Amino acid sequence: MPAIPQFLRFCLDRSGKTSQSSRLLSYLEGLGYPVESWRFPDRNTGVGQMISSYLSNKSQLDDHAIHLLFSANRWEKRALMENKLRSGTTLIVDRYSYSGVAFSSAKGLDIEWCKAPEMGLLAPDLVLYLDIPPENAAERGGYGGERYEQLEFQRKVAQSYQCLRDASWKIIDGRLSVEEVEKQLREIVISCVMMCQKGKSLSQLWS
Ligand code: TYD
Repeated sequence: MPAIPQFLRFCLDRSGKTSQSSRLLSYLEGLGYPVESWRFPDRNTGVGQMISSYLSNKSQLDDHAIHLLFSANRWEKRALMENKLRSGTTLIVDRYSYSGVAFSSAKGLDIEWCKAPEMGLLAPDLVLYLDIPPENAAERGGYGGERYEQLEFQRKVAQSYQCLRDASWKIIDGRLSVEEVEKQLREIVISCVMMCQKGKSLSQLWS
């Protein structure tokens, strides 16, 4: 059975990823593809509620413990993710494993330790990184409300992401207009969909 692409999007906070995710969803739906939009953390599960409480500074957790909760939040959706992909649904995922490793390693945790609980999760066919200087992200609306929305920390996260780039990544300049970013994303995504339709098996992180 040919695997269907999962599009993974992630990047610095306030880079425009969430609105671009929904534009991409409408675009693929309009072309007739079965497609769903997901996001991590999924705050609706029990684990997700613990994460949400931590992010809004209502609870404190050891850095290792919160890393494992983010990872558990992905594992609790893994079987469903595989079922969806095998049945032909394209998933657009707003943040995933790379965010988990980038944020925790930016705190100073060992990068290999951060990757370990992610091993065996499904690997994305395509990673779309909206590149925006942390300073620009900080100027955008809504920034500063949650635990990680601090300029100095976001600079460290940006550095961590640089270490994680691999062949599945496409970097898009997030400072371009919304329309231009959307245009570039569409071109990249459609060629990935066509490539995956020819037959591509599911693979796992971080192999
Ligand atoms: P998110 O809900 O995507 O918020 P935003 O819309 O502001 O990007 O993510 C919440 C925060 O959680 C964000 O600062 C990134 C962080 N995060 C991790 O630290 N580890 C993870 O595994 C994930 C998925 C997100």
